[in-house]
Amino acid sequence: MSANPETLWSRFQRHHLDCPSIGLALDISRVPFPDDFPAKMERPIRKAMADMEALERGAIANPDEQRMVGHYWLRNPALAPQPEITRAIEETLAAIAEFTGQVHSGALAGESGAFQNLLVIGIGGSALGPQFVAKALGHPATDRLRPYFFDNTDPDGMDQVLAALDGNLGRTLVLVISKSGGTPETRNGMLEARAAYGRAGLRFAAHAVAVTGAASALHRTAIADGWLRTFPMWDWVGGRTSELSAVGLLPAALQGLDIRGLLAGAKACDVATRHPVARDNPAAQLALMWYFLGEGRGAKDMVVLPYKDRFELFSRYLQQLVMESLGKELDLDGRVVHQGLAVYGNKGSTDQHAYVQQLRDGVANFFAVFIEVLKDREGDSLEVEPGATSGDFLGGFFLGTRSALHDSGRPSLTLTVPDASAFTVGVLIALFERAVGLYASLVNINAYHQPGVEAGKKAAAGVLDLQRRVVAHLAAHPGESFGAEALASALGRADAAETVFKICTRLAANRRGVAIGSGAGLGARFKAP
Ligand code: PA5
Repeated sequence: MSANPETLWSRFQRHHLDCPSIGLALDISRVPFPDDFPAKMERPIRKAMADMEALERGAIANPDEQRMVGHYWLRNPALAPQPEITRAIEETLAAIAEFTGQVHSGALAGESGAFQNLLVIGIGGSALGPQFVAKALGHPATDRLRPYFFDNTDPDGMDQVLAALDGNLGRTLVLVISKSGGTPETRNGMLEARAAYGRAGLRFAAHAVAVTGAASALHRTAIADGWLRTFPMWDWVGGRTSELSAVGLLPAALQGLDIRGLLAGAKACDVATRHPVARDNPAAQLALMWYFLGEGRGAKDMVVLPYKDRFELFSRYLQQLVMESLGKELDLDGRVVHQGLAVYGNKGSTDQHAYVQQLRDGVANFFAVFIEVLKDREGDSLEVEPGATSGDFLGGFFLGTRSALHDSGRPSLTLTVPDASAFTVGVLIALFERAVGLYASLVNINAYHQPGVEAGKKAAAGVLDLQRRVVAHLAAHPGESFGAEALASALGRADAAETVFKICTRLAANRRGVAIGSGAGLGARFKAP
């Protein structure tokens, strides 16, 4: 041990924050911040808390998009700054309950009988939260509907899901989730699912529901085609903070999960994390530790290690919540800052047999966030060795890894929760949402827009446009073959020879509009098939 156990114990006593109202404890004793750090950060964290207060009161906290940021109202509608928003949240909750009741009772059924499966089609904030919660709270023995996901435009990935649903599409409810209603991956997933229903001789509309913004392209399709139902998504809820809107609550309710518990946990955590004294506020403590460990510029990555299989997708969920929110080029004053906080992780103790070796002995470019879940399982456990269960081993591995990292000078924080209940999941979501908001204020950035995502979407649209022109050009010149450079020049895009090469090799591999006339590799010449 690098510090004697007494020193560690006394530091643990000083820096272990118990939050009994939400069943959470946060231990920051293994972060080596100096004693004067909290005092130095007093003013900035007070300002961050004031910013959060203004945000919750309905300030335009997303200035680039001129939007309010209202995910905190979702679990306490009375907080919303306008009565119409309160009403919209309450009406949506009632609509979710009513619709779910109809599905579960069989009053609303598919063309082959009562619904048994749920196919959720979405991406980013419209998939990661639902996936995390489905795994965290679901159970094959109790799920009312078994969840499946299309979260990409990978044809083979969709084929795998469709194969698992083969013969059961008539008992599968499809939820198409997209705030903007124009995300290509989600649109493609919807079209692929619709085609699969068609091949099975079923009417897609009789199995389809949309969660989307008013008047979006998806909304128009759902209305025009007579889908079963639509649920709203509002511009004052960001995609990555939408888990407690219809985006996350509808699939969870249909799966049979305790959405009231989720909302109650988040609401209680909001109360706990509005605490004005930073040392008693777990979200403020998290944000301050991120600031200290990453020197206010994301200098260290955050490795999230929950010791619970159910929380395996939490790090993926957090990866989006944190990195899409904090990864920004400009600060609120327009200065180039390249902010961010990289997040990865999976679960313990599994990861001890993967990358934890490097965490302990390799490059020291990270800090760990352990999540300890006290309850092992429902019911009694087998003793796998005298006096020790599998859960005891899991607990032992967690404590052992934490010590090993500490001994080699690697900092960590530990969150302890009692169980993997809906309440706890709601607490964890709300805790990190607020930590992100507070940290964004500390580093003076807008956490609620995503210009980089938009840039990627625009670039992809440009590639698809070029692809159409490549195919048209080859079709217009039958019998001729072109190297990538010549083809790009012929299209007036001499700057895009590499993109043209990539487009042609992929299309040729899929036998779609392009064939290889002669040559190979970079010397390949392309022609119409
Ligand atoms: O957090 C975000 O805003 C994004 O990650 C979106 O969730 C993602 O791009 C999907 O967008 P949409 O829900 O509009 O289909």
